[in-house]
Amino acid sequence: MDTYDPIELLSNRFRQAIARAYPEVGQEVDPLVSASRQPQLGDFQSNAAMSLAKRVGANPREVARAIIAHADMSGIAEPLNEQSVAGPGFINVRLAPDALVRLLEALDEPALGLRPDEPMTVVVDLCGVNLAKQMHVGHLRATIIGDTIARLHERLGHKVIRQSHVGDWGLPIAMVTAKLLELEDRGELSESLDLDELNRLYKQAQAECAGEHRAMEVIQRVGGHAKLEAELAAINAEADEHLAHARRVLVALQSGDQRVRAMWQRIYDVTMSECLRTCARLHTLITDEHSAGESTYAEELGQVVEDLASRGIAHESDGALVVRIEGIDEPCLVRKSDGGYLYATTDLAAIRRRVQQLGADLVVYCVDARQSLHFKQVFAVARLAGYATKPGASQPSRLEHAAFGTILGEDNRPFKTRSGENVKLSDLLDEAVARARRAVDERSAELSREERDSIAEAVGIAAIKYADLSNDRIKDYVFSFDRMLAFEGDTGPYLLYALVRIRSLFRKAEAEGIAFDPHAPIIITEPEEKALALALLRYPKTVRAAAETLQPHRLCGYLYELCSAYSTFYDRCHVLKADDAEQRCSRLRLCHLTARVLADGLDVLGLPTVERM
Ligand code: ARG
Repeated sequence: MDTYDPIELLSNRFRQAIARAYPEVGQEVDPLVSASRQPQLGDFQSNAAMSLAKRVGANPREVARAIIAHADMSGIAEPLNEQSVAGPGFINVRLAPDALVRLLEALDEPALGLRPDEPMTVVVDLCGVNLAKQMHVGHLRATIIGDTIARLHERLGHKVIRQSHVGDWGLPIAMVTAKLLELEDRGELSESLDLDELNRLYKQAQAECAGEHRAMEVIQRVGGHAKLEAELAAINAEADEHLAHARRVLVALQSGDQRVRAMWQRIYDVTMSECLRTCARLHTLITDEHSAGESTYAEELGQVVEDLASRGIAHESDGALVVRIEGIDEPCLVRKSDGGYLYATTDLAAIRRRVQQLGADLVVYCVDARQSLHFKQVFAVARLAGYATKPGASQPSRLEHAAFGTILGEDNRPFKTRSGENVKLSDLLDEAVARARRAVDERSAELSREERDSIAEAVGIAAIKYADLSNDRIKDYVFSFDRMLAFEGDTGPYLLYALVRIRSLFRKAEAEGIAFDPHAPIIITEPEEKALALALLRYPKTVRAAAETLQPHRLCGYLYELCSAYSTFYDRCHVLKADDAEQRCSRLRLCHLTARVLADGLDVLGLPTVERM
């Protein structure tokens, strides 16, 4: 139990009181303790009396009085009495000042109250780029939300394995591989192939296999009907030939043909080097070792399908092989009628490896909400087949789709460039950093160019990340540079700036020869000090809740509230110019603890921080 958490402590006391007052309902009643919305009445309140009243058939205020009569708040809160009952039966509680100080002192240790949990193994599926394609805004979310969920679990002492399920296998990849081989044959393949060029060739290969781009050319060139039909038939035949060729290349790739394989590797390297550069720039802990692409499961797909069929889990349907799942209308397709495997087949193999080989107790998929049905199906099939159960375990591991919504443009439509293309992630980051640079130039002209460069980079990235993470992930949100880059309000730059301000306070103290004593007694007298103290105490529980619910926005909201509480405290309570040395030392300690909680929280979110700005 987190002993520094007042809600936890008060809940226990109320639970005991309820059990004593109403032995027939026992201990299992939720005492519904929460922070008070009216600080003048109390710090916390219990709302248990209202629902309990219905159960025992009594008046809620009577019930509240009965709970109070049996409550022992010694050592935590001020004694409860008639005046503690408010409205229909709320019970207001005020923490005892010495208890508040004790809790704060307990929090002020290196781990900030976050003692490790019983460690589990967590696989986080994140990023998931596709070969020969640029990372776009969808991958931004998969990358940063995934990395933050990974960090949250790491902070709680779990073993976390990040995995990027790279889309690096299948017919589309074979199409572009075939295209590149053809260019190489003609001596037209550039030595310095970059991802932009690769992406262009990818689109071209796709269009050729579909006959699209030639068809458009012809429609523009030829008017007459009969002539057009003949031309289009020729194009279709040509496209079919391209497709047939791509299929042959796929077979060659699958059977390990050296030349084809080498070309595939080149496509892989070009894509991944750019992707990993972006991941590093985004301050996420995703490197080469975290890539576990679809290709790594290629050998296992046949076996998975065989296994499902032989155990009667999968059934033939129009030549294809499907698994029907109770409660889900659409069956899960695991083998096409042409013998090809699917996205779902690969994900089944992935679950099996993650749970049974890597030992995952929890697998979290940070993937677009539009893939919800896919994950519902795959999770259900995996559970049915036992792939989600660790060897020797009686229960399946937890499989979670941490789904996220769409990033929208200011017009409320999915965020696209003017010409309707996906926005390239690296362009977006450049733009954020360039805008941050202008703000930094204005505010901190006295700093060197290099310093302003690195501050702008951190501020721009923090702005984008915070704007994303601070929204409930399941919701769509509107992308706005102006809003996310503001130095005031619920933004990344504001949080970074709050930390900078506290740090500069300590530099100032040092310059003035004011010593900081990390063990100075904490004295809480002003309401703003108390509000800050109560906010600090909520940190450990917030991190836990964000990890458990896979909701980074809870931690964002908390850090913003902490900074607001700090800002009010700092406005109203003199720190360096406090009345006396004791008060100054106590307040410096509060500032120091705030900075540590804030820095820790920003680190858990994966936001870069700066010393000055
Ligand atoms: N490559 C996929 C996409 O771009 C994302 C992969 C998600 N992970 C998974 N295990 N299916 O949509």
